[in-house]
Amino acid sequence: MNATIRPFRPTDLDALKLLTVESFNGVTLEQNVEQSLGVLNGHDWRWRKSRHIADDASANPAGIFVAESDGRIIGYISTLIDRDAGKGRIPNLAVDSTARGEGLGRRLIEHALDYFRREGLAYAMIETMAQNEIGRHLYPSCGFVEVARQVHFARKL
Ligand SMILES: CC(C)(COP(=O)(O)OP(=O)(O)OC[C@H]1O[C@@H](n2cnc3c(N)ncnc32)[C@H](O)[C@@H]1OP(=O)(O)O)[C@@H](O)C(=O)NCCC(=O)NCCS
Repeated sequence: MNATIRPFRPTDLDALKLLTVESFNGVTLEQNVEQSLGVLNGHDWRWRKSRHIADDASANPAGIFVAESDGRIIGYISTLIDRDAGKGRIPNLAVDSTARGEGLGRRLIEHALDYFRREGLAYAMIETMAQNEIGRHLYPSCGFVEVARQVHFARKL
């Protein structure tokens, strides 16, 4: 797949939300919460997850990079910057299921890391669910080292 990576445009947002909810099925905390507690406050996990990319776009639109092939959006990576700490964080990354396994996820990560370097940052962080086998393979192979594991709890009120 001959994908190009370009900066985010505000008109991409709906497509990125759609790609997010399609891609994160089975690998998002929001869905785990729903599986444990049911639908909450009248919103399913897709509604909650799609807001994450909207939040990323509000926080740092210049740090979202979009992969396109034949004019179709097939992936993206979002980033956040804590300049004082010298930290870059990658909160969201997705590649369309039809385009996976061809190195695009890795290219998007490298693209984000180059952006962090240009911004003069000192280190980068990314996290994944224990159930996400691809993330657990891909991130160490992009040079990230595991630093912690976290356990999430939820309860109804
Ligand atoms: C994670 C994601 C972006 C990777 O995109 P991609 O374009 O397939 O990524 P790449 O092709 O660059 O690399 C995938 C790697 O995972 C490996 N892989 C694929 N399936 C795997 C599996 N079941 N278990 C372990 N590794 C697997 C591939 O072999 C490849 O590794 P390699 O380069 O060493 O051969 C994509 O799978 C995705 O959108 N997943 C759903 C959303 C998601 O999990 N986002 C990240 C949240 S932390």
